[in-house]
Amino acid sequence: MTTTSHPNLNSRERHIDQIDGDRFVASPELAVFDPDEIDEIVEFFQRWGFARIRNVYSDAELFALEQEMQRQQLELLTGTMDEKHGTVILDDPDALIEGEPFAHYVCHITECSDLADDAVHTPVIIESMQRLLGEKMWLLDYERFGVVYQDSRPGKDSGYSRIGWHSDWQSGPHLTIWPSVAFTIHIDGTSPANGFLRVLPGSHRHNTDGMPPEFEKVPGEVAVYADRGDVLLHDAHLWHSAARATEDSPGGIRRHLRGSFHAGDRLQEGHGLEDFVKNAMR
Ligand SMILES: [Fe+2]
Repeated sequence: MTTTSHPNLNSRERHIDQIDGDRFVASPELAVFDPDEIDEIVEFFQRWGFARIRNVYSDAELFALEQEMQRQQLELLTGTMDEKHGTVILDDPDALIEGEPFAHYVCHITECSDLADDAVHTPVIIESMQRLLGEKMWLLDYERFGVVYQDSRPGKDSGYSRIGWHSDWQSGPHLTIWPSVAFTIHIDGTSPANGFLRVLPGSHRHNTDGMPPEFEKVPGEVAVYADRGDVLLHDAHLWHSAARATEDSPGGIRRHLRGSFHAGDRLQEGHGLEDFVKNAMR
């Protein structure tokens, strides 16, 4: 195995030494933690590159967040928001859902929604990030796409329904912002009906040699299903992809907020998007 393409080689090599020989024996369904299980979250994450956390938000908090996200998405479509909240890099400007223009992404969501900002700064996310990345970790909420609200749904003119194998690190291998841990806050639970995450457990400890270019089955991959309100953490080096929904709307809708904390150099304000590497198949 080679890891020479990685920027955090030393820590990764150390980590491999500690856990080489381990197999993925826990079922992904068992790999779910409560907010007070920080030690277990950190241990599982370091082994497998991801961790799912439940019971983070109340039903009332989730409902308020859902309503707010729908309002922001609508405002983006009606043109009343600053243009930085839209994206033509990730989104298809001509995307249609049931014949109507549609925005699959609202970027920089924490800059226009206090509820989103509060959800991201919930204690278990901050504590996990501090444990995994160190006290000086920082949230990339001000550059690139910031924290993003995503609405994936199928349809023949949909601009976003799935994503092929990638690691998040591949979007900027030349940057010095790594290492990084991403978070996903699920508005909708996931299932084969609305699409779900596929991951290769432990792949964060290896490089991307052999990663398929599209949606192929990878030996050892697992589906990581989430319930409404679950927070998923994953390492920027973890191989992952998302399967397309098998149902039409409304059953095929999959919405979440996602973003990333970092331990490398802060990205300068005004860095822009020109060097974003869009390598994952959509
Ligand atoms: Fe990703």
